[in-house]
Amino acid sequence: MTTPTIQDAIHRETERNKEMAAENTSKVFEAHPMKGGDGPNSYTKNSILQRASVDAAKEFLNKAVAEKLDIKSFLPSKSFRIADLGCSTGPNTFMAVGNILEAVESKYRSQGLNSQIPEFQVFFNDHASNDFNMLFQSLPQNRQYHAAGVPGSFYKQVLPNASINFVYSSTAIQWLSRVPTAVADSNSPAWNKGHIHYSNATDEVIRAYETQYSDDMESFQQARAQEIVYGGLIVLTFPGRHSDT
Ligand SMILES: C[S@@+](CC[C@H](N)C(=O)[O-])C[C@H]1O[C@@H](n2cnc3c(N)ncnc32)[C@H](O)[C@@H]1O
Repeated sequence: MTTPTIQDAIHRETERNKEMAAENTSKVFEAHPMKGGDGPNSYTKNSILQRASVDAAKEFLNKAVAEKLDIKSFLPSKSFRIADLGCSTGPNTFMAVGNILEAVESKYRSQGLNSQIPEFQVFFNDHASNDFNMLFQSLPQNRQYHAAGVPGSFYKQVLPNASINFVYSSTAIQWLSRVPTAVADSNSPAWNKGHIHYSNATDEVIRAYETQYSDDMESFQQARAQEIVYGGLIVLTFPGRHSDT
């Protein structure tokens, strides 16, 4: 048996990188961003329903931060990094970020760590075609955080390894990464006859959506597992229904 050389290791690493690049490019991410600007039909002016979800989650978020966020494992740390995945154009994301800051600061205070409250940095993520100009132009003037935009699908890693203390996403992860191939294929038993919903659809159609969602959630969780720091927290709100309905 021969001993592996450095050249062998480099060759293996290069091949693995090629495989990973091929995997990433073979993933098709569809983007259907919200209507930008601040006109009468814009998301900014038509997102009261999603705002209700941010408000409804506030109490749960406070509880999760109080009970689960392990701030002692971050010390000493000068910055606390938050990511809002699928933030759209605002203003809901700003309310959500405000709630997160309030909850985290309150946790530092309740643990007698007032002097250790870090600077906050917020990464606003959405598809590249999201109206980030609208988002940044309407950032709250009196915000207590640094803001940055992160374009790209949250079904892959969008932030560096072990860099985020708090991942948040509201009414966004119910969006699949793509229409399941089978439901758009007229030769497939899961063909959905051109419909964009699955009410009253066949079991095959429902299974195709379930499989896509399961694959997407796997990708989502794998990406977040890379990005989150030890002791960090992920809070997700999304619509759902009982499996027997
Ligand atoms: C209904 S809006 C919710 C926006 C905001 N979170 C709120 O509470 O108002 C859903 C957002 O998720 C974004 N989105 C959907 N799939 C995404 C993906 N794979 N990666 C990044 N953003 C995505 C959409 O572009 C859209 O802006």
